[in-house]
Amino acid sequence: MQPLTAADLSHDRDFARALDAQDGLAPLRGRFALPLRRPDDIYFVGNSLGPMPHAARTLVLEELEDWSRLGVAGHMGARRPWYSYHEQLRAPLARLVGAREHEVVAMNSLTANLHLLMTTFYRPEGARTRLLLEKGAFPSDTYAVMSHVAARGLDPAAHVVEIAPRAGEWTIREEDIEARIAELGDTLALAMLPGVQYRTGQAFDIARLTRAAHAVGARCGWDLAHAAGNLALDLHGSGADFAVWCSYKYVNSGPGAVAGAFIHERHVRDTALPRHAGWWGNDPKTRFRMEERFVPTQHADAWSLSNPPILAVAPLVASLAEFDAAGIAALRAKSMRMTALLEFRLREIEGVEIITPAATHARGAQLSLYFPNNARTRYESMLAAGLACDYREPGIVRLAPAPLFNTFDEVWRAAEIVRSACATG
Ligand SMILES: Cc1ncc(COP(=O)(O)O)c(C=O)c1O
Repeated sequence: MQPLTAADLSHDRDFARALDAQDGLAPLRGRFALPLRRPDDIYFVGNSLGPMPHAARTLVLEELEDWSRLGVAGHMGARRPWYSYHEQLRAPLARLVGAREHEVVAMNSLTANLHLLMTTFYRPEGARTRLLLEKGAFPSDTYAVMSHVAARGLDPAAHVVEIAPRAGEWTIREEDIEARIAELGDTLALAMLPGVQYRTGQAFDIARLTRAAHAVGARCGWDLAHAAGNLALDLHGSGADFAVWCSYKYVNSGPGAVAGAFIHERHVRDTALPRHAGWWGNDPKTRFRMEERFVPTQHADAWSLSNPPILAVAPLVASLAEFDAAGIAALRAKSMRMTALLEFRLREIEGVEIITPAATHARGAQLSLYFPNNARTRYESMLAAGLACDYREPGIVRLAPAPLFNTFDEVWRAAEIVRSACATG
């Protein structure tokens, strides 16, 4: 699928309808339960909570049935035996984020995984104690980083360095991050960066910034909450040391869904790395010998602590199957076209400032609109008109057309709703 350039685009509704008619991914929409109050409502908040794949219900019910029928025997005898349940996630998860199977694991929540992986990859030593974070990071990341550094006996005010956009700009220039990393040099232990910034929708070049951190001998970790299931990632190729993401946004695995983590294979092989350990990280061949000594498996699973919550993981199995049916590359190609059309339609509306970068490679599905006046009122009128979107301070409305279940015609209509919301007040 070719990217859409400004020359290809049109404001004509028939143009949007024609894109839907040609869209080979269009049938996937029927595989999701879309929470629409009225048939014409538009769900553009998959970047916050993705809708339920119908198959999730079936898979959860199957696990409940197997539990009621088999009890403990379900560990080996369930339709999908619980003992090895998590293994079926490896291949689809690896395809989703561009990793090798032994580099990914589904476990815990994003913030919990961030703490676990900072234990391994933030190793302050001598003068190398600094942790670089973006200013205005998602609060949970800031809380996690500050409290983690403090728990290691260091003063966050002295050891956490925050990088912000230049005055008057919304997004952080990658060259500024590179320059800051170079300046920190051998005082930098870890750079912790977002794949896609939650407020502005800016996507960062993971390989480029990882290279910059490695060039000064630091490690680089990524929060991919807004990137997993949104961008076509190549985590292995990027060389990132680790990444964490949640599965309830673009990955559509349900509220508080089991999160994901990536650890690059060069670290996965290193069984001497410091880490928090639990029995599920032990080599499965010896796990049930119940020995005292922890023997980490040479897999990202080595960071997992406990046996997985089967009822919570089942929706992830369902959702990853939908990603596999489409392929993340095809989804990203459609997503770029949808967001290009949305941007084209919004650009001509007076009073709309799009703060998300215009370059396709520097953004995912989401466009963030800034309204200096009456932002909340405008947002509420969009909601009332049936456009599900969300609001973030200061005065930002986020819209995210998702290629798995949204249509080009919805993109067209969403722009009309924004136009009406801007026309009032
Ligand atoms: C960028 C980012 N990081 C972290 C989180 C928090 O994740 P969790 O509550 O799943 O730990 C979110 C949640 O929306 C997020 O958007």
